[in-house]
Amino acid sequence: MSAKKTQTVYRCANCGRVEPRWLGRCPECGEWNSLREAAATELRTDRAGESFPLPIASIDPGRGARIATGSAEVDRVLGGGLMRGSAVLIGGEPGIGKSTLLLQLCAKAEIQGRILYVSGEESPAQIRLRADRLGALRENLEVLATGDLGRIHGALEAVKPSLVIIDSIQTLHAEEAGAVPGTANQIKYCAQELVAWAKEREAGLFLVAHVTKDGLIAGPKAAEHLVDAVLTFEQSEAEFRTLRASKNRFGSAEEIGIFRMGDKGLEEVADPSGLFLVRREGGFPAGVAVAPVHEGSRVLLVEIQALTVPAKAGLTRVYSERIESGRVARVAAVLEKHSGMRFSDQDLYVNVAGGIRLVEPGIDLALAAALYSARSGVALPAGAALAGELSLAGELRPVRQMRRRARAARSLGLELVLGPVSGEEGEGREWRAMRDLKEAFACLLGRADAAPSSSKG
Ligand code: TYD
Ligand code: MG
Repeated sequence: MSAKKTQTVYRCANCGRVEPRWLGRCPECGEWNSLREAAATELRTDRAGESFPLPIASIDPGRGARIATGSAEVDRVLGGGLMRGSAVLIGGEPGIGKSTLLLQLCAKAEIQGRILYVSGEESPAQIRLRADRLGALRENLEVLATGDLGRIHGALEAVKPSLVIIDSIQTLHAEEAGAVPGTANQIKYCAQELVAWAKEREAGLFLVAHVTKDGLIAGPKAAEHLVDAVLTFEQSEAEFRTLRASKNRFGSAEEIGIFRMGDKGLEEVADPSGLFLVRREGGFPAGVAVAPVHEGSRVLLVEIQALTVPAKAGLTRVYSERIESGRVARVAAVLEKHSGMRFSDQDLYVNVAGGIRLVEPGIDLALAAALYSARSGVALPAGAALAGELSLAGELRPVRQMRRRARAARSLGLELVLGPVSGEEGEGREWRAMRDLKEAFACLLGRADAAPSSSKG
């Protein structure tokens, strides 16, 4: 019986009030005998739950169905596809591949209805050429080259698409919001109109935003709170691109998608675990440590590189683009306190091979080891992989999914895996559990090099 899914509710014929049970008199308008049986879904045209409240159990969850975008990586970052009626902002530097990605999604999205690709940046002919190159021709994909909100609105009403791409929000303009495109006012006004349209018609909406190196500029920032998800497309070194959610109402904001830019557009990298690992003849040089990091639902092995040089004029600095400088400074301070080695008179340079940005706390131990190795000139043993968050007291704190990290490291030939004491299954067998920095360094470098002055003494 489908009665469970589309539950019956009772609605007042007089005022529209909805009740989960039949009542003789409407509690809203006081009319007698006015409540009529109705399926919750029938009320949708009246915007049930939006113009008047609806019992939560009677809401049809089908309303939130997701659209498979045709890219497993994009689906993953969105939390399992694009929600109907939702708006997603995709930001990234010019030339990173936003238009390419979205045109590819247009070609592959699993969608019955029509798709409208609006570009204020390229002519229809340019878009056609690119689509040819990407193999992105399909029926029901329509292109409109304008930034004029009035025209876009007209096209939306005529085409009634299920999926809409706006490339980019910086080219949007509406008379109502002043004459100049690209101002924060214009972007906000236009984005708001489009988001409202998508929500009302239950279409999926992608908005492209160009951002500069320093992060989101004023305009797109204003649009961020209007949308359901904000994805950032970033370039690591070479041909790799990562897609990351900084906001996601319908999924986790931790997943990343990884792509490679090739001559047929963006290709997905399904198994990136060893992608950022540097293969070398012989062992590590000093200043290098490998960390198994847990990004969303995957483990990546990454190489953290550090360099320390004496600071000039007593003013020390941290140069670190891929790991937040505050974290580097904090780990260096913990290290100074608990290893007896001085960092506070040094400039610290930190990099991540492959250029991927790391945000998770489980990199602390590898970061500490890279800094220690750089400062001491003693290389870590080849084949070591280090995971663990550091407390200010120098203890190693548990990290998520340590067992999976250990397995990924070992499958890539890194046999000496150090991690925290966590009680997780596999501890002791799949990784060596370390209580603190002192113990970890003793294990890595041998007792002779071990840090002498841990708080645990
Ligand atoms: P594009 O999608 O235009 O970037 P954005 O919309 O973010 O500004 O990406 C353009 C870059 O990608 C451009 O430098 C050319 C390159 N590219 C390829 O390498 N292969 C391809 O198949 C395509 C379509 C683009
Ligand atoms: Mg573009």
